Amino acid sequence: MFSAEQIALRVAELGRQISADYHGRELLVVGVLNGAFIFTADLVRALAIPVTVDFIRAASYGQASSSCGTVRLSKDVELPLAGLHVLLVEDIVDSGHTLTRLKKHFTAGGVASLRVCALIDKKERREAEVVVDYPGFTVEYGFLVGYGLDYAEQYRQYPAIHRLAEEHVKS
Ligand code: IMP
Ligand code: MG
Repeated sequence: MFSAEQIALRVAELGRQISADYHGRELLVVGVLNGAFIFTADLVRALAIPVTVDFIRAASYGQASSSCGTVRLSKDVELPLAGLHVLLVEDIVDSGHTLTRLKKHFTAGGVASLRVCALIDKKERREAEVVVDYPGFTVEYGFLVGYGLDYAEQYRQYPAIHRLAEEHVKS
């Protein structure tokens, strides 16, 4: 779907845009584990402003490929949030449940502002209306793997993003 070169170009663009938007503000980048670990690592290196970085972990899928709507935060951020401008970094937004849950969590934590950067905005199965402020790529359908994205914990290490063949996806 997207080659390593295409991803690198898009990450650089997002980095420029985010750097300009947050210039002069105190930014905390929060990557959502596990899927966003590679994207977060590349994105922060594309920023031209000082940032702090932390991670949160949300779990909803288990080994299946579709969201069940109940999202558990299995690891919280450890840096204090209050008064900070937070940018949540997600690998992919699918049903929107994970992001909705995470947004509530940060809003309750008294942040100064909250925005979302997601490498992939996948519209097909959206169930919860949620705004992605900085979408990397928009995709209509399919199950994607690579560049941090997994299927049953496999394929995260691939440098490019691939669409898994339909017959391999158990829903
Ligand atoms: P949502 O709660 O349905 O929006 O799901 C978001 C999470 O599901 C993402 O952070 C991913 O970890 C996972 N996910 C959704 N779609 C895909 C996909 O196509 N490939 C890999 N993981 C996915
Ligand atoms: Mg996942």
